[in-house]
Formats: sequence, structure tokens, C-alpha cells
Amino acid sequence: MTHRIGYFVGSLAKDSINRTLARALVALAPDTLTFTEIPIGDLPLYSPDFDEDFPPAGRALKEAIEACDGILFVSPEYNRSIPGALKNAIDWGSRPWGTNSFARKPTGIIGASPGRVGTAVMQSSMRSVLSFLDAPQLNSPEAYVMYDPEVYGPDGEVRDEETAQFLRHYIEEYAAFVERVLAANAPGHIGDPNPVASH
Ligand code: FNR
Repeated sequence: MTHRIGYFVGSLAKDSINRTLARALVALAPDTLTFTEIPIGDLPLYSPDFDEDFPPAGRALKEAIEACDGILFVSPEYNRSIPGALKNAIDWGSRPWGTNSFARKPTGIIGASPGRVGTAVMQSSMRSVLSFLDAPQLNSPEAYVMYDPEVYGPDGEVRDEETAQFLRHYIEEYAAFVERVLAANAPGHIGDPNPVASH
């Protein structure tokens, strides 16, 4: 059985190292997962004034999230936090109130930086946001990638075997986590989001 994973790249840069990392993860992932990027670059800045009549870009984003079995965030850290474009997209997906598209979606967070601290502080901020949004998160392994341009090719190839093993382990653990959350959310199970309708 395959599961559809939507991934967000938290960078708008055309040569984003995080998009390169995302391509590597897609290439290393088990074939039980299929991947689609959920684009964030054309979203206006979210305002609650949109809630009454959500614009097409906001609706498309929510539909893209809801069509996926799991969500993966591959993001840089900006000023020790979540890049504004990614946070804006998450805010869009969380609203209008009562229609949070992230609820109960299995999520993973990973990021690359040229710096030694990786993206640890951004990831910690993301955990707080996703907890509020009731999105289960892969807790372990954590992955704070210090990006080495020599290691990654443009089409997802990873030229260093130790790095490839680390990333393969991460995405395999994420695949197993998606399975566990989906099993728990299945009709009749303890995490069934709609228990009345399913009995
Ligand atoms: C950065 N960068 C950065 N790096 C980091 O490790 N911690 C940080 O807090 C920041 N802050 C930061 C703020 C802003 C506004 C920019 C533009 C950059 C550096 C960042 O990791 C580097 O530019 C990466 O290449 C960004 O990832 P993408 O866009 O290439 O995927």
C-alpha cells in the first residue's frame, strides 16, 4: 500500500539547499511513499479577513494538504525560527477556525543549513506550532543537516554513503511513523477522527 506525502520546502530561493535535500529524501524513500511538493510561493499574506470567503490559493493549499496521508516539512531556519513564507502557509492551512487541515496528519520536520547548529531552533519552533495544530510528529530520529554542497547532486543523488544512510534511515522511520498514525486514525480505532459516523 502506498501513502501520499505532501512536502513543504520552507524556502523561496531558486537554488534552495532545502529543495535539494527534499529531492534527496524523495530519492532515498521506500517505494511505499509517493511525494508531491505543496507550493507556498504564491500565497498572499494570511489575514482572518479572508475566512468568510477563502480565496482560490488558500483553498488549493488546504485541498493539497487534505489529499495527502502525511506531511513533511523541509525547511531552512531564518533568524533562529520558522521562515515567514512557511509560517504563512501553515497559518493558511490551519484556518478558517474549525477546518484545520493539519489535524491528525503524521508530520516530519527536517532542515538543512550551512551552519553547525543546523536548523535545530526552527525545528523546535515547528514542534510547538504542529502540537497546537494537533499534528502528530516523528520524534526520533531528529535530523539537523549541515549542508555540504559537495555531497548533494541536483537530482537527488547523495554522494557520501554515510549521509545517504542517515537520510535513508530518517525517511524509513518517517514511513513507519506514517503507517502507525494512519492505523491509529483508521475507522473504529482509538484515533478515529469521526467515531460517530464510522460506527
Ligand atoms: C539565514 N540563515 C540561517 N542559518 C541558520 O542556520 N540559522 C539561522 O537562524 C539563519 N538565519 C537566516 C536568516 C535569513 C533571512 C536568511 C536569508 C538566511 C542561512 C540559511 O541557512 C542559508 O541561507 C540557507 O541556504 C537557507 O536555505 P535555502 O533557502 O537555501 O533552502
